[in-house]
Amino acid sequence: MVPLSWLLLFFGPLLTCPAVTELNTRPIIGIVVQQVTDKELLPFGNTFIADTYVKFLESAGCRVLCPDCQIFYKLAIESTASGHYFPIWGTCMGFQLLTALTTGMDLLSSTPSYNVSLPLNLTSHVSSSKMFRNAPPGLLQVLSQEQVTANFHHFGITAQTFKTNEKLNNFYRVLSTNRDENGVEFVSTMEARNYPIYGVQWHPEVNRFQWSSDYAFPHSPSAVWISQYFADFFVNEARKSQNHFESVEEEEAALIYNWTPKYIANISTYEQAYFF
Ligand SMILES: *[C@@H]1O[C@H](CO)[C@@H](O)[C@H](O)[C@H]1NC(C)=O
Ligand SMILES: *[C@@H]1O[C@H](CO)[C@@H](O)[C@H](O)[C@H]1NC(C)=O
Ligand SMILES: *[C@@H]1O[C@H](CO)[C@@H](O)[C@H](O)[C@H]1NC(C)=O
Repeated sequence: MVPLSWLLLFFGPLLTCPAVTELNTRPIIGIVVQQVTDKELLPFGNTFIADTYVKFLESAGCRVLCPDCQIFYKLAIESTASGHYFPIWGTCMGFQLLTALTTGMDLLSSTPSYNVSLPLNLTSHVSSSKMFRNAPPGLLQVLSQEQVTANFHHFGITAQTFKTNEKLNNFYRVLSTNRDENGVEFVSTMEARNYPIYGVQWHPEVNRFQWSSDYAFPHSPSAVWISQYFADFFVNEARKSQNHFESVEEEEAALIYNWTPKYIANISTYEQAYFF
């Protein structure tokens, strides 16, 4: 079986394991592939992972693989029920997918916020949240005052939708909101109440790993700092999972090191990507 933690859905180490007190200092995190929709990229493959997400995770001390299963959500829920840690992280579409998996519904509304970096409107749940309760001094100030969270979405979950959907409300706590180009409030950061499941509608990884000058990626020292903070946070979550491959051979064959990223900076907003 696969060891794991997700992005765009990252997910954490699978496979049964003893109740955890020790840290797993060799975590491996799975990243869910995206469909290639851009015509220019189709010659390379039908699915891809942008190198941005890989570097984001690797920068915090883990290895990455591309899992061939889509059952991470079910596994995370079942693992937690049986006392095993199985973290999941959703970025942008990953955030949106989490809300669909939790509710069984497509709750997206138009919330245009494209190519714009915003300070988060943090909620009162922040101080007790897993994501932020151990944040270093100054981090919340940067997040709430500086334009460090890059938004690249046309759709989202409005604060109103969240408030009125019992399943979402029971499962997640809203940690921040923002307003779209038309002033509509959408949920920008959330975490599950009883599971290690986290979602951000914005893109923490671009601050360090995307450079197209056609877009407004935030690269200030504080933007870089918060990007590293979230990578460290999630990889630390993955270290709480003892899930692992059954053999070193199986592990080596699955790691993303077996694939070579392609240069696509001249035909996309990414620098490089892995194609499958
Ligand atoms: C900030 O979030 C609160 C809800 O937590 C909301 O009532 C308020 O309108 C938001 N402010 C802005 C500027 O979006
Ligand atoms: C993104 O925003 C930047 C800064 O506001 C602007 O210079 C750039 O033209 C925008 N790019 C697109 C594709 O809209
Ligand atoms: C993009 O760069 C690659 C690698 O240098 C090159 O082979 C390809 O022709 C370029 N494509 C375009 C459209 O410029």
